[in-house]
Amino acid sequence: MHLQQRGRILRQSPAIRSLVAETIITPSDFIAPLFIVEGSSVKEEISSMPGYFRYSLDNTIEEVKHLWSLGLKAVLLFIKCDDNLKDNKGIEALNSNGLMQRSIKAIKNAVPEMCVMTDIALDPFSTFGHDGIVENNQIVNDPTVEVLAAMSVSHAEAGADIVAPSDMMDGRIGAIRKALEQNNFINTGILSYSAKYASCFYGPFRDALDSAPGFGDKKTYQMDFANRKEAIKETLLDLEEGADIVMVKPALSYLDIIREVKNVVNVPVAAYQVSGEYAMIKAAAEKGWLNEEKAIFETISSIKRAGADLIATYFAKDIIKILQ
Ligand code: PBG
Repeated sequence: MHLQQRGRILRQSPAIRSLVAETIITPSDFIAPLFIVEGSSVKEEISSMPGYFRYSLDNTIEEVKHLWSLGLKAVLLFIKCDDNLKDNKGIEALNSNGLMQRSIKAIKNAVPEMCVMTDIALDPFSTFGHDGIVENNQIVNDPTVEVLAAMSVSHAEAGADIVAPSDMMDGRIGAIRKALEQNNFINTGILSYSAKYASCFYGPFRDALDSAPGFGDKKTYQMDFANRKEAIKETLLDLEEGADIVMVKPALSYLDIIREVKNVVNVPVAAYQVSGEYAMIKAAAEKGWLNEEKAIFETISSIKRAGADLIATYFAKDIIKILQ
């Protein structure tokens, strides 16, 4: 054969492959989610997320110091609210001395350089396990948005660098931006879960926070996974309303969406490799059916290749080890 082009030339050695690699992964690509519970010295493994833990605040601080020492630059905080503090309106979400607010302060105090991001949604605080206020079995949009805006201000007051609304209510980004401006939090960023799909892959997360919806599902606010153009519509709206970073969630079944979004926006795009994606890899690896490290590296690489500038993943620490 006399070929003009031989694709294998650029794949023949590790040196050449690394010279032409299009996707390079670095520690600052990652956001590490953290689950925080009341108490002290608590480290509870989440049953459907083997190797991942809920920590009390004291242990969380040690963990954040460790993450920083590994080169990770961002954490995303979720708290598990005690059942007796849950209600329909998320009153506890606004408590300036609540677990979330105390956690933000303590973490910023211990590791001030770490970028602290916080989840904004009512589900961990809701007796119904829904992201918004419930009236007559409906999740009511506008009253919920008011609480989300107040919650964002409360997190900013505690010292959050970036608030991350994960609720999918209409108009919440605009309301949050306005509330932050009115309260003079001009440096607080908004990472919007812009294209968040109603996905079965959130199951283990809802175990972690005991936040599964008590009735129905989340399909009246989270997106239908049949849809692609709708993701662009939602993302562009969030940008108009003031989002700094947009996010697609979940990641692996939505790589097409990540790329579509990346192609139309000029802000950083994040993707969330969610709890069910973590659980799938862990379970297959436990059975010896997949090589865990290779599966982590390949899935993360595909998410970045699809267009994600930032990746929230429960494998943040593992990937650092793999990179080394
Ligand atoms: C809650 C929220 C969810 C996740 C992040 N924020 C769950 C849900 O919407 O039901 C899922 C994260 C994961 O599965 O890892 N608003």
